[in-house]
Amino acid sequence: MRLVKAPRERAERVRKRISNMRALRKDVRIFEEGEHVFIPLKEGFDERRLLDLGIEVVDGDARSRSCYVSPYDQVRGILSFPEDLDVLLPQKWEMFGDVLVLRLPPGLEDVKQEVAKAYSGVLHARTVCLERGIIEGVYRTPKVEVIWGDGTETVHRENRILYKFDVAKVMYSSGNFPEKKRMSELDCRGETVVDMFAGIGYFTLPLAVHAKARRVVACEINPVAFSYLQENVGLNSVGDVVEPVLGDNRDLPGERFADRVLMGYVGTTHEFLPKAFDLVKPGGVVHYHETCPIDEWPQRPLRRIAQAAGGRRFEIGHKGEVKSFAPSVSHYVVDVRLLD
Ligand SMILES: C[S@@+](CC[C@H](N)C(=O)[O-])C[C@H]1O[C@@H](n2cnc3c(N)ncnc32)[C@H](O)[C@@H]1O
Repeated sequence: MRLVKAPRERAERVRKRISNMRALRKDVRIFEEGEHVFIPLKEGFDERRLLDLGIEVVDGDARSRSCYVSPYDQVRGILSFPEDLDVLLPQKWEMFGDVLVLRLPPGLEDVKQEVAKAYSGVLHARTVCLERGIIEGVYRTPKVEVIWGDGTETVHRENRILYKFDVAKVMYSSGNFPEKKRMSELDCRGETVVDMFAGIGYFTLPLAVHAKARRVVACEINPVAFSYLQENVGLNSVGDVVEPVLGDNRDLPGERFADRVLMGYVGTTHEFLPKAFDLVKPGGVVHYHETCPIDEWPQRPLRRIAQAAGGRRFEIGHKGEVKSFAPSVSHYVVDVRLLD
């Protein structure tokens, strides 16, 4: 039998990913051995899809080993809360490196320390934070409260890229993974790319590391995110490709020189479209992101693109949903190729 072998701290994330790929074999138990969790794979599944994500697959036999108890069930076992609290325990969480971010319902407020301790033990988290509101503002600074451990700076690994950042100071959207993966699968050899909203390198790094862009101009306005961007360029050994620029992307010099422009920002992205069109050269592509009510998709982004193009001819390539954003609102991306 083929089994995915995942380090314990990544196991739940890997299990979910395999399940989303419909590759999880459900008639055989998941089990753990030492520091690893072994997840049975369906027969005939194309394992290259996992290897591309840096996920290890081995041969093995499930029956001889002790069985796997999900982290959620382990936490429930440790806490043994009465029914009314037990049902409130979160079944989902975000793990960035060794920092865990939980969203707790108000009913668990009085026992938050106990809850954090249990989750940190089971998930091997150094620090536990609570999400305290939605991410807003130009800098996209998260609102979190540290309730267990100490230190919120961590190194998160995704798609064989290292992202160092401070979970309490800089946002990280794991929901954008499919789009980051799509960018990493482009062939950008020889290309000059401008990432207008670089953050800590969310899209810049996949484009430099995997898509092999020749040059990436990575612009970021928030000095905190910018300093992590600089560090991450070094951590991923792409200092000869990425040029981090601190400042407002509307001040970037140059016109019609970019083969590709990334607009990985939502809310007011359309206001930056004229600048993106100034930067992109004929034949180049703009990856335009927008959060849009589902019933206005795709008309609204297409209308905004046409307005900003101001008579320049363009064609639409890929267009689709990146993730659900709010009730009846999704985050979408549209690829626009400028023809002249
Ligand atoms: C955090 S990212 C958005 C999410 C990200 N694409 C992801 O995958 O998680 C957006 C970044 O754009 C930056 N930003 C906002 N306005 C900007 C501007 N005018 N020029 C340059 N950077 C800007 C913000 O500081 C933020 O770091």
